[in-house]
Amino acid sequence: RTKELEEKLSKLKVSPNKPLRSAQWFDRADDRCMSSLYLERYLANGYTPEELVSNKPIIGIAQSGSDLAPCNRHHLTLAKRVREGIRAAGGVAIEFPTHPIQETARRPTATLDRNLMYMSLVELLHAYPFDGVVLLTGCDKTTPACLMAAATMNIPSICLNVGPMLNGYDKKDLVGAGTVVWKARELHAAGEIDDDGLIDLVTRGSPSVGHCNTMGTASTMNALAEALGMALPGSAAIPAPYKERSQCAYRTGQQIVEMVQNDRKPSDIMTRKAFENAIAVNTAIGGSTNAPIHLNAVAKHVGVPLNLDDWDRIGYGLPLLVNMQPAGQWLGEDYFRAGGLQAVMAELLDEGKLHGDIITANGKTVMENVANKHTWDRRTILKYSYPMLQEAGFLHITGNVFDSAIMKTSVITEEFRQAFLMNPKDPNAFEAKVAVFDGPEDYHKRIDSADVDERTILVMRGAGPLGYPGAAEVVNMTAPARLLKKGLKYSLPCIGDGRQSGTSGSPSILNASPEAAENGNLAILCDGDILRVDLTKRRVDLQVSQDEIEQRRKKLLAGGGYKMAPSQTPYQDIFRREVGPLAEGMVFKKAVQFQRVAQN
Ligand code: FES
Ligand code: MG
Repeated sequence: RTKELEEKLSKLKVSPNKPLRSAQWFDRADDRCMSSLYLERYLANGYTPEELVSNKPIIGIAQSGSDLAPCNRHHLTLAKRVREGIRAAGGVAIEFPTHPIQETARRPTATLDRNLMYMSLVELLHAYPFDGVVLLTGCDKTTPACLMAAATMNIPSICLNVGPMLNGYDKKDLVGAGTVVWKARELHAAGEIDDDGLIDLVTRGSPSVGHCNTMGTASTMNALAEALGMALPGSAAIPAPYKERSQCAYRTGQQIVEMVQNDRKPSDIMTRKAFENAIAVNTAIGGSTNAPIHLNAVAKHVGVPLNLDDWDRIGYGLPLLVNMQPAGQWLGEDYFRAGGLQAVMAELLDEGKLHGDIITANGKTVMENVANKHTWDRRTILKYSYPMLQEAGFLHITGNVFDSAIMKTSVITEEFRQAFLMNPKDPNAFEAKVAVFDGPEDYHKRIDSADVDERTILVMRGAGPLGYPGAAEVVNMTAPARLLKKGLKYSLPCIGDGRQSGTSGSPSILNASPEAAENGNLAILCDGDILRVDLTKRRVDLQVSQDEIEQRRKKLLAGGGYKMAPSQTPYQDIFRREVGPLAEGMVFKKAVQFQRVAQN
């Protein structure tokens, strides 16, 4: 540890005499009457005065699991161990429900609820007597929502992931949650499996409690929470049913009490260096394309500048080290046994690709947390010098159809390369015609009749934060059934203003801003237009003159602009009024002005 770090740490410690935040409710010297009112119902339900009026840390357990949210439902069990850890360390637990989010069932899209869960969690943490909080994370958007709330509230906070499911199998073959859906859809479209076969295959990917067992958005965001230092080291990858997961729940409960005692807050942990670590980690694990949206959102709420150029500059050139679906072969149990994130971070740290000197939730540095944690299993976590893939991060792409979009290049297959990129003069660029779809419903209706061949770029618009409120996970489009039946061996390239599932393997340029619904230039594309995609220059350009672009824009605006479907609920309407673009994290613009509420 550097002297500077030691000094910083000693400043963090709160004096034992400083009253806790919860005393403003339960132990007000200036107003015993108020305190009696605040205490009454908690005492009525069995808490004792010794627990609530004795300067013991009151720890919230933000429960995100329920029957409605099966990915996180195992937290109903884990929370008991969290409570026991809190109690053993001298704290008092108060468990409460958060707004539920279930990625697979929430219509029109679960991202809509990320900001709602964030807002409601901030309200709860602000309004009630919490000295610290254990955030029970898991399914895709629950983790960023929790981190965003921790950032805004800035009271001691720690994440506990629910953990991935056990591996799924179809006979001897590994079947990953989420990734199998794309495969099953293709087999179904090609007539190789029937309706029952479809359900059977899809459900084989999800054999137990827990979140997706692939490196989708859930595994990614929980890895990034750990990389940021907001979860115990080694915690993210433990499968949900394993004994280590319950043990980790207990230790997380103990840890939060220590964090309150030492006043270690999110703003002490989530520094610029921590975000840079998380970007590097995201490349090495083959993290989801949703990560830049969510991490940029967390950064915005904690007040750390972070943008997509940072992702390209820090993350693109790093290698993919984790051999896990969708970019690789294995699943969550293999990754955990191989050492999980600590092993990945040990590898990156050796190469000088991480900041090792920053503090994490347990009061130790990154360097201390990953010391001697290298993997023993080189088929699952590869050597930095012998990776799955070089330059595996995201490209930040601009051009004349959008200002900003990202592309995950680690899923580009050799077959795709052969079909699209193998012009020897220009191995990193291609031109192709587009087929344009206005939202997922239009795509499903027309994909089989649209003019699409083996070299068509599928464009999805009207699927951004405004267009399909919340931004639909629909940019990964499959080719028409007739091409699949002919044996098309690669995914067609996709471009769009929506998102892509973290478990998808298509080479897509997504999260494009400004979106069509904001009258971005995606709105002026027509079927048959030629786009030039140049990955070296990081550009996508419509091959028409600037004059033609101006003409099309005039026509679009004269016609009242890009047409959006009306909002279906009051919240959708509020969301559309308040939200910013995907490139900037899709946060509520006014919410980021409320950084560190708790300190004010
Ligand atoms: Fe919930 Fe994948 S759908 S974690
Ligand atoms: Mg997803």
